[in-house]
Amino acid sequence: MSRVVLVTGAASGIGAGLAAHFIKIGDQVVALDMNQAGLGALAERLHDPNLLPAVADVTDDARLEKALADAAARFGHPEVLVNNAGTTGGPRATTLHETPPEVIDRVLDVNLRAVIRLSAAVLPAMLERRRGVIVNIASVAGLVAFPSRAAYSITKAAVIQVTRAIAADYGHKGIRSVALCPGMIDTPMTHWRLAEPRLREEVLARIPQRAIGTVSDVVAAAAFFASDEASYCNGAAIPIDGGYLAI
Ligand SMILES: NC(=O)c1ccc[n+]([C@@H]2O[C@H](COP(=O)([O-])OP(=O)(O)OC[C@H]3O[C@@H](n4cnc5c(N)ncnc54)[C@H](O)[C@@H]3O)[C@@H](O)[C@H]2O)c1
Repeated sequence: MSRVVLVTGAASGIGAGLAAHFIKIGDQVVALDMNQAGLGALAERLHDPNLLPAVADVTDDARLEKALADAAARFGHPEVLVNNAGTTGGPRATTLHETPPEVIDRVLDVNLRAVIRLSAAVLPAMLERRRGVIVNIASVAGLVAFPSRAAYSITKAAVIQVTRAIAADYGHKGIRSVALCPGMIDTPMTHWRLAEPRLREEVLARIPQRAIGTVSDVVAAAAFFASDEASYCNGAAIPIDGGYLAI
């Protein structure tokens, strides 16, 4: 049965893969991103009336509200939310004392505050229907700390706790939440590192499978955990990391 699925960060990488997957299986997809050109390219590529591109920065509450209202008018309220938009904070986001406060705030706003706000915004309609799934794209950096990526690691750990809080409070009301914790996935976020042979070797040496993950690896997991087949999976943080966390 067709669902209304809201994917944030849908213009690129994992989010674009998620939007394409949900469209392919017949869902109605709200693809939200602040990158208008990227969303335009996605819409052109998928060319499907079940795709509604929504240009918004996830930290902008007014734009989010409008995107949700537009989505409700076109398709109805989301039954599945994938909180995927995320940022490392860029090259200035390193250790705690060396990261400028405004960069820390931006990483917190995008990776954590927006996840909380958007989840809170879609929950009332889910509660009314006693049905809904919130999949949060966290990271292995939420389970161990990445050196020199303090703000990113902190927010991804907090997103795992948001997932548990949703499971704790709404599990008996038909709502589930799962956090996915990808390891190194080849997307525009990581490509600069993977394209550099020495850095790529360093990354590969730490992964038991000696392979970099693909967007499809994450999409397949998200598709499963968002589906009714995963109806007893709730509150978990699932690594998708080629064994990175096993050693
Ligand atoms: N690539 C990896 O190795 C990896 C590993 C673990 C977790 N993740 C997580 O997966 C998610 C997707 O990352 P990706 O690798 O596909 O990166 P990406 O850079 O390809 O895509 C991220 C998308 O999010 C959008 N975005 C960023 N900030 C936004 C904002 N404030 N408002 C709206 N949209 C915004 C960007 O425009 C972009 O389209 C992120 O949360 C990231 O932290 C990625």
